[in-house]
Amino acid sequence: MDRRTAVRLVTTLLALLVPSLFVLDRARAGGDHFYPPVNDPVVAEECGGCHLAFSPAMLPARSWQAMMANLEDHFGDDASLSPPTVAHIERYLVERAADAGGARYASRLLRGVTEAQTPLRITTLPRWEREHREVTRAEWADPKVGSKANCAACHRDAERGYFDDD
Ligand code: HEC
Ligand code: HEC
Repeated sequence: MDRRTAVRLVTTLLALLVPSLFVLDRARAGGDHFYPPVNDPVVAEECGGCHLAFSPAMLPARSWQAMMANLEDHFGDDASLSPPTVAHIERYLVERAADAGGARYASRLLRGVTEAQTPLRITTLPRWEREHREVTRAEWADPKVGSKANCAACHRDAERGYFDDD
């Protein structure tokens, strides 16, 4: 191929690769933003099949209760489970919720959420939105990401509870 074609090819490849490398790398090294990961096998199995088993410390207890009361219509999916399994998972999530026991990480992510609000998404918490305001539309649209809820696409240690920002 001639020189111009080669240059164009390289530029196209870079344009495709660089934004995703950039956004994926930004969330990686350093820091200590720790949200205790799910360590119960039932919760990991039943709540980790379709997406990351989200840390209970990312939503208040009332949110988990509301979510567990309506698993038949779980963000458009049917995630229903037997009553004993629901009870087991709900107890686990509520005991470790963001507002259980005044943990440090909790107040951080719940900032801006009033007692009257029952957020069902982590990705609509004001604090979460603020932490992600620098992520561009193109970065969200990256096929490796697909959804804001796909934390592990950018936070490579999400499964282990780490969401570092630099
Ligand atoms: C059958 C698949 C499925 C199962 C099983 C499932 N979920 Fe989900 N969940 C979804 C889908 C789909 C969404 C919406 C994801 C999106 O917006 O990309 C979602 C979203 C969520 C969100 C909000 C994510 C955000 O945007 O902040 C939470 C929290 C959540 N699920 C918790 C749970 C819990 C707790 C369980 C276990 C009881 C569970 N999920 C089991 C499919 C499932
Ligand atoms: C498209 C990539 C992307 C996705 C998907 C994503 N994040 Fe992030 N996240 C980032 C980036 C980049 C930052 C750092 C922002 C900055 O540098 O200011 C960040 C920051 C954070 C922080 C703040 C860390 C700190 O230092 O306080 C938390 C917590 C977090 N993300 C949690 C999540 C959770 C939970 C999910 C899934 C529900 C998620 N993120 C999905 C890219 C992403």
